[in-house]
Amino acid sequence: MRPETTAPVRLEDYRPPAFLIETVELDIRLAPKATKVSARLTVRRNKGTPADAPLVLDGDELALTGLTLDGSALASDDYVVTPDRLEIFRVPDGPFTLVIDTRLDPDANTKLMGLYRSSGTYCTQCEAEGFRRITYFLDRPDCLALYTTRIEARASEAPVLLANGNPVDAGPVPGTDRHYAVWHDPHPKPSYLFAMVAGDLAVMPDTFTAADGREVALNIFVEHGNQDACGWAMDSLKRSMRWDEEVFGRVYDLDVFNIVAVSDFNMGAMENKGLNIFNDKYVLANPDTATDQDYAGIEAVIAHEYFHNWTGNRITCRDWFQLCLKEGLTVFRDQEFSADMRSRAVKRIADVRLLKSHQFPEDAGPLAHPVRPRLYHEINNFYTATVYEKGSEVVRMLKTVVGDDAFRAGMDLYFDRHDGEATTIEAFLACFAEASGRDLSRFALWYEQAGTPTLTVSSTHDAAAGTLTLAVEQRTAPTPGQTAKQPLHIPLRLGLVAGDGRDLTPETVTGAEMTGDVLHIVAERHEVVLSGIAEKPVPSLLRGFSAPVNLRSDVSDTDQLFLSARDSDPFNRWEALQTVVTKTLIAATAALASQSEPVLDGSLVAAIRANATDAALEPAFRALCLQLPGEADIAREIGRDIDPEAIRAARAWLRSSLSDALTPALLGLYNEMASSGGFSPDAAAAGRRALRNVVLDYLGNGSVPEAAELVAAQFRAADNMTDRFAALTTMVHANLPGHEEALSAFEERHRATPLAMDKWFMVQATAPAADTLDRVKALCAHPGFSAGNPNRVRALIGAFATGNQSQFNRVDGEGFAFVAAFVQDLDKRNPQAAARLMSAFRSWRALEPDRRTRAETCLKALAKAQDLSVDLRDIVDRCLQ
Ligand code: BES
Ligand code: ZN
Repeated sequence: MRPETTAPVRLEDYRPPAFLIETVELDIRLAPKATKVSARLTVRRNKGTPADAPLVLDGDELALTGLTLDGSALASDDYVVTPDRLEIFRVPDGPFTLVIDTRLDPDANTKLMGLYRSSGTYCTQCEAEGFRRITYFLDRPDCLALYTTRIEARASEAPVLLANGNPVDAGPVPGTDRHYAVWHDPHPKPSYLFAMVAGDLAVMPDTFTAADGREVALNIFVEHGNQDACGWAMDSLKRSMRWDEEVFGRVYDLDVFNIVAVSDFNMGAMENKGLNIFNDKYVLANPDTATDQDYAGIEAVIAHEYFHNWTGNRITCRDWFQLCLKEGLTVFRDQEFSADMRSRAVKRIADVRLLKSHQFPEDAGPLAHPVRPRLYHEINNFYTATVYEKGSEVVRMLKTVVGDDAFRAGMDLYFDRHDGEATTIEAFLACFAEASGRDLSRFALWYEQAGTPTLTVSSTHDAAAGTLTLAVEQRTAPTPGQTAKQPLHIPLRLGLVAGDGRDLTPETVTGAEMTGDVLHIVAERHEVVLSGIAEKPVPSLLRGFSAPVNLRSDVSDTDQLFLSARDSDPFNRWEALQTVVTKTLIAATAALASQSEPVLDGSLVAAIRANATDAALEPAFRALCLQLPGEADIAREIGRDIDPEAIRAARAWLRSSLSDALTPALLGLYNEMASSGGFSPDAAAAGRRALRNVVLDYLGNGSVPEAAELVAAQFRAADNMTDRFAALTTMVHANLPGHEEALSAFEERHRATPLAMDKWFMVQATAPAADTLDRVKALCAHPGFSAGNPNRVRALIGAFATGNQSQFNRVDGEGFAFVAAFVQDLDKRNPQAAARLMSAFRSWRALEPDRRTRAETCLKALAKAQDLSVDLRDIVDRCLQ
């Protein structure tokens, strides 16, 4: 057991490793309950390390069974070993050979870190600190070594044996029922990228001809019976490989690229060198079980993990504080890939919605931290929306600040200069400073400073002088551990929209630097004067969401609705509508709380109708214009004394009011967007389904008498999961007649497909009904549910805690109590999964007093428990701080 409180790890304490490990030869003899690992390491004292310094290796729940140094067994007083540490007192400068034998129990590994079994398949997960659960090691990302892996297993149990790199040898073990395979990875790598898989798996093979003419063998391994569901993943992989060549000039560097899908996996997927391991949810897809969103998710995650080969693997992180160096950058790359594969505007809107719904609340609550944290207790708790999503926004801003050409030149320089290294954010930024000639020191504060800045902009037009003056102010509120904030370098992309929709170009700009259409905001206050603007324009601010800030402007509702119709920037067209919709929802929440009538302005209805029915716009964009902000989004905008029930009621009011006001248009769209012909997962077809299904949801929540039958008919007739699940969701959430029968029919149809059943759990867990909590409790006993499988836990408990604002935040506190009890139990089995689930509590302080007290009581009770994991304790303590 780990101690209850541990000292935090601090960035400022970083020191290079005392020893270097140059080569690793692993011999892994697999058996379900007693796997033998023999690690032969070539070790050398690092320069600068004192000659009497001991060799200290990391471990985690390990059992040592043998230890030799240069062939001689060590005496018991030469070293001290515990499950989490091996210290050898006197070692030569080296290079010397250390052979460490450990014994593992993969079957008993419920943490899904290190070597474990998923449906019988042996697999590993080593990021961030899982390799130390396999052997004693310098388990840190700046320790780069060459790996050779020999795996041995019973041939019948595990006909497929995989590890990183290229296959070099394989064969039977004579006189036994076992066989072996040897893999060698020619690229030095940190231990977190090690992987091996062994099992009875089916394979979908393919090939890819790289830009340099080399033929790369591609394989996707899945459980037998699933090989027909890999086509989309394989197609996504090939498109990713081509795109990285074309857009970033990055070519793949091994003879094989293997992907394995497993059903028990804590995260989405893992970029192990040459052997990516995936949660099967991000590999398997067919029209009957996967939605359009699932297809898009697979495409993005396959791309993300593939892109890590250069941003993460060839160039890795010096220490875990630099996590955003690989994750933020790789998210940026996968977002750009998806934008190129689909609609750039639609992708940008989806990404900003995700950023605002996941990262903004994190940045506004007790778990706020900088994109590059300075301190952690448990690194697993820092794979956050801030590191990933805000980290990607920072790279996007960097591109905006230096311009497209300098960005590409900076990336090229980075790949060139740091290939084969474990490096830092400073080194990354230096490449762009060099490529652009810009001073990026203020920009670098984006990595250091937590919290979402508020950017306030007001404008005055002087017709006589022909000037537009923008008063721009930035402010970042204090966050835990950071009270004083400095001004950031904020790229403010700007349009000046004339009455006819044209963009006006200023003659001169004073008060801030402007490059192209980007204003560089670097001080707390700017007074920017743009000349040559005779006609009063409507400012279109922060186009494309050019910086992750909260924008407050004096643009009137009328002008916002003008932008929603005329802005040439599609993102801001959507954002303008959202701004007015959100304002309406906030006012309605207040009105309903004081028992008065909320009001819906006719001009807003007209603006929504205009965008939704504009045939010149893509259906996917029109769908987004119809989609209301979620309850949590409204809560975030209100900011304090949140009453989730009032928000739910306000949103329901607006949905039904719009439904009634737009009925003829909605019915028209529903018919117009019907598909002709069979299912295709492409973006255009998915966009039509998205529009049709958001329309269906409005109709199901309005007062057209025949709507209920329309929804039920779609459920029955659907030939794909997108349409079936959309109809089911509307039926269940709107409590339409027949929804119980529909749930039964869905269960009947998909009982044998766990990933489809996750949707069935999710739709019930997110129903805004008073009996939902009881239902969720009952579903915990459903034969398809398992607390040991992270996907099931996310689908039922995670969906309830994060996707059901009104019921998780029940005023009687029962929602909190249930989730906290579940988490405490899960913690014993899988601390990482428990800690993630617990972050659902992160916005508790923004609740109204009754709910706030309930949440606090619950958190305090949990904090008192004696046996919490480091992971869970870290989250609970920070939530309460
Ligand atoms: N390196 C991560 C996987 C990981 C995360 C390992 C946390 C250990 C701890 C991987 O590249 C990743 O980022 N996966 C994401 C999906 C991605 C598309 C953002 C995930 O697993 O959620
Ligand atoms: Zn990643």
